[in-house]
Amino acid sequence: MAVTVLTHPLIQHKLTILRDIETGVKIFREVVGEISMLMCYEAMRELPLEEVTVMTPVAEARVKALAGKKLALVPILRAGLGMVDGILTLVPSAKVAHIGLYRDPETLEPVEYYCKMPTDIADRDCFILDPMLATGGTAVAAAKFLKDAGAKSIKLLTVLSAPPGVEKVEKAHPDVEIITCAIDDRLNDHGYIVPGLGDAGDRIFGTK
Ligand code: URA
Repeated sequence: MAVTVLTHPLIQHKLTILRDIETGVKIFREVVGEISMLMCYEAMRELPLEEVTVMTPVAEARVKALAGKKLALVPILRAGLGMVDGILTLVPSAKVAHIGLYRDPETLEPVEYYCKMPTDIADRDCFILDPMLATGGTAVAAAKFLKDAGAKSIKLLTVLSAPPGVEKVEKAHPDVEIITCAIDDRLNDHGYIVPGLGDAGDRIFGTK
């Protein structure tokens, strides 16, 4: 399955704002929301359309409308929460599932501590939301969790990625499309993306 890197100038400009150490929590949070909205626009490019009839002020018209596909946003707690509101601005009827996974600081492996899904998750297009795809352990675990719950259509929306994470997701879940704004050079010894943007959760919520 494809990895789509969103090279649109507006997205790249916003990513640069996120990378900048001088960007404070208010702007960081806002820009994560804006970039998520733009990513969602791209992720929904292939949604099916159907023909409908509307009456314009001038004449009857046969036109297109979304064919009722249902969406579930699946933020990985906690940094993924920063991406939810921007996407809900575009798709207010989407349901929001939550997956609580954190990286064990020693092993860097994901540990699950909270999960809550809509009952019809199997019928929905699922967008896993996590600003950072670093080692890939969390994303792989989240996609497995969704598949175990019956989900068949899954995309991973991540603001910034590193090669090990991309490879791990591609290997474990070749059916999951990754949509990202950049793939950086590498991970450092602490599992942070280099050059990256730091700890996305801390920068969104101002906890550092
Ligand atoms: N999570 C983050 O918040 N930042 C990284 O660089 C890697 C994982």
